Order: sequence, then C-alpha cells, then structure tokens
Amino acid sequence: MSPLPTRDTRPIIIDTDPGQDDAIAILAALAAPELHVLGITAVAGNVPLELTARNALILVELAGRPDVPVFAGCDRPRRRELLTAEHVHGKTGIDGASLADATTALQPQHAVDWMIETLLAAGEREITICPVGPMTNVAAVLETAPETARHIREIVCMGGGFFNGGNTTPTAEFNVFVDPEAAQIVLHCGAPVTMLPLDVTHKALMTDAWITQVRELGSRTGAAAAGMLDFYERFDVDKYGTFGGPLHDPHVIAYLLRPDFYRGRHCNVEVETESPLTLGMTVVDWWSVTDRPANCQFITEVDSDGFYHLMMGLLSRLP
Ligand code: RIB
Ligand code: CA
Repeated sequence: MSPLPTRDTRPIIIDTDPGQDDAIAILAALAAPELHVLGITAVAGNVPLELTARNALILVELAGRPDVPVFAGCDRPRRRELLTAEHVHGKTGIDGASLADATTALQPQHAVDWMIETLLAAGEREITICPVGPMTNVAAVLETAPETARHIREIVCMGGGFFNGGNTTPTAEFNVFVDPEAAQIVLHCGAPVTMLPLDVTHKALMTDAWITQVRELGSRTGAAAAGMLDFYERFDVDKYGTFGGPLHDPHVIAYLLRPDFYRGRHCNVEVETESPLTLGMTVVDWWSVTDRPANCQFITEVDSDGFYHLMMGLLSRLP
C-alpha cells in the first residue's frame, strides 16, 4: 500500500513509457511540492517494458526520490502487437543520459493490481491518473475493475492529435496508435478526461538556449536532462525542419500545476479502432456537428514561455 496523500497536495499516479520526454515529466512531478506522486507505473511503449520499468527506477533515483514506488505493468497491448520507437528514443529509451542502473528494485506487485488496490482504497474522485504512454495499464484497470473510475478525480493524458494530424501515421499519435482500444476505453470510463495532444505540444518547441540553461543548472539532474533532450529532439528537428522539438509528456504535469497556461474545449473524442487507414486517429467533434456526448477536455493552446519557465524552475529543485 502506498502512503496516503498528505493533506494539501494532489495525489497522482504517473503511467509512463520512459522515453526522454517522459523523463522530464517524471522529474518535474517529483520536484513539485503541490503533487504527491503515489507511484509510477511502467508500460511498454517507446521501448519494451523491461526498459521502461528500468528507466523509471533510474529516474526516481536521479531525482533523489527512491521512496516513490515503481511498478511494472503490461508488456504489450491487450489486443495488438507492441510497436516501439527506438528510432526516436534510442535503444535504452533514455539515450543521451549515461546513467547507471538503479539500486532500488521494482515493487513485486503488478502495476494494474496496485492501481486497482490504491484507487479502491481512496475516496471518490481523489486520485489523478497521468498516462504519458500507451494507455494499456489504465485500460486494464478500468476493464478489470470498472468501479475504480469513480475514485479517479481526472485522467490527464498526453496523446492524440486532430488539427495537427499524427506523428506515427498521417492521422495517429504514437500513444494512441500503439493501443487505440485502450485509449477508447479511457475516453468512455466515466471519469473526467483531459487530453494534451500534438495540437498543443507542437506549439511549444524546445530551444537550444533552453537546453543549455538546463545543462547549466550544474546538477546531476541538469546534466542528465540536457543530455537526454539533445539526443531526443534530433528526430523531430530533422523530421519537421524546425528549430527545436516538442516536449510532449511534461505538459501533463504543467497542466496540473498551471491549468491557466492552457486552453481547449470540452467536446466528443472517439478513437478509430478498425480502419487500417486511420487506425488510432482521435476523431474530435470540435464543432459539435454530431450528437455524440462530450467526453474530453481537448487542449489546443499553451503559454509556451510559461511552460518552459515552469519546467526550468522544477528541474532546478532537483539534485
Ligand atoms: O507522441 C508522443 C508520445 O509518444 C510521448 O508520450 C512520447 O514519450 C511517446 O511515448
Ligand atoms: Ca511517453
């Protein structure tokens, strides 16, 4: 059982497939006094589960927070083969930071079982779930124990794309494409869902100056983060021909801390789970042209300067 949330902090669970951008999200969350990270659950995505779980352990130690429990979850989507993204994240998933393996061990409990236990022990609408990878673990929780949904305050996820299109296919973003059925389950679970898609993450690109400022923090976290980001952004800079790359996952943490940085619309979002052409597409009824009920706060705008200033402040709090 995880420690109960302290009185004036927001209890969250981060479900993740580190991934350099996941790494910044995890570090930022662990640095934020407003958040109580009850645990980190690893899922297969950017790299296989064995590596995402390993990376999560490394990151909580890097942050000086070995007290935060890490659990391994699902090693592939329930209904599909796993697709990974070593071409983006490197063989380890956190290439760019030469970090030793963690000394702390994974928790013995499966992430899905732990999430179910933790949610059912919590109050109504108490815990925020933060998926920043394929939503396989979270969907497994909701399918196994649908009653957990009423204990979820909000699911704030990085995933999807609509006006922006996709980054894995012309119409699908990676997290949703890897496990479209899982994303659809999350969108229909009954808990409030907020989605931070490519439409917002691509409006806040990193700059070399910002990465240099991270490195100049002079801490082990700054050195590791800068190394990861230098490696990570090369793919998007080459692909999009932009001056910098998007930093996807940390927007979930920034949204929790500064929702005023963000704008979006509560509307209907559905996921294509059949069509070979548009599999994994998040179909957003932005103009309410259907009678499908609104089920998601779909975010499309961000204060980019505010976001990067917030991230720098959080990273500067770590050793
Ligand atoms: O499409 C971006 C998402 O896919 C991010 O979560 C990144 O880490 C990858 O998992
Ligand atoms: Ca991720």
